[in-house]
Amino acid sequence: MIRRPRRNRQTEAIRNMVQETSLSTHDFIYPLFIIEGQNQRIEVSSMPGINRFSIDTALEEVAACVELGVKTFAPFPSIREQLKDKYATESHNPEGLFPTLIREIKRNFPDVALVTDVAMDPYSSDGHDGIVINGEIINDETLEVLGKMALTQAQAGADIVAPSDMMDGRVGYIRKVLDENGFHKVAIMSYTAKYASAFYGPFRDALDSAPKAGDKKTYQMNYANSREALIEAELDTLEGADYLMVKPALSYLDVIKLLRENSNLPIAAYNVSGEYAMVKAAAQKGWIDGEKIMVETLTSIKRAGADIILSYFAKEYAQYLKK
Ligand code: PBG
Repeated sequence: MIRRPRRNRQTEAIRNMVQETSLSTHDFIYPLFIIEGQNQRIEVSSMPGINRFSIDTALEEVAACVELGVKTFAPFPSIREQLKDKYATESHNPEGLFPTLIREIKRNFPDVALVTDVAMDPYSSDGHDGIVINGEIINDETLEVLGKMALTQAQAGADIVAPSDMMDGRVGYIRKVLDENGFHKVAIMSYTAKYASAFYGPFRDALDSAPKAGDKKTYQMNYANSREALIEAELDTLEGADYLMVKPALSYLDVIKLLRENSNLPIAAYNVSGEYAMVKAAAQKGWIDGEKIMVETLTSIKRAGADIILSYFAKEYAQYLKK
């Protein structure tokens, strides 16, 4: 035998030398769930280790993460039922929970980058990402709400707005609104290939944002499709997206690779709540080694072609690196 691939696996030093993919804290965006009140830190029951924070404790969490080297955050608000309505009006209230949080984080941590979610669902009495009329999600009227929401977030200090709603034309619409208001420096991370997935369950529990009726299949993508992701990617790019995202990550590694090979924009992947919950549940049962599975799955997302990983593991991974 002339070729013996095992030669390059003989010792740890050699394995490290030939390792093709490595992860750093810089690759991550850490999602944060935000609730009203003070001194709140309530664990999400289906996501051990992940809490819902009030603004004051969220600032403590940001400080702890910054200390560990994680400097980019994706906050998501949980909005009180009484403040929800059909048109998600609270989503563009500058004094609302979310813009207040953005201002507070940027005031205390000017170097932190904030990626803010643009979608109606946490603020919608219908629990959908668009305006619902007679059971239908209306696209073009929804764009106006998304534009106001993105502008409110930019005014509060968001660095990157991240439309997760999957309405047609929203990237171009938001780009226009931001530019007309002088926010040409605010970037857009588009949830480009966002699939109608059962992996979002724990997230919807955390925010009480599940649809009141129906599902999201008329706007989020069919998980049987990957060529369709290229159509979304092309449109988002033409409309001015600065980043493309694939979501979820682990069952969609092929889609991450596809976008990586067909675009020169940075590719983000969202390692979603259900993916996190499954690892934690099996680890708690002692059925898998949670830490090893965390490292292996995060590495696989990067290996598939993601430059950026949104993950509930971001902080834990940074702690693991310090060990
Ligand atoms: C809202 C949104 C969702 C997630 C991120 N933004 C839920 C949904 O589309 O129903 C899911 C994230 C996760 O599961 O971790 N548009």
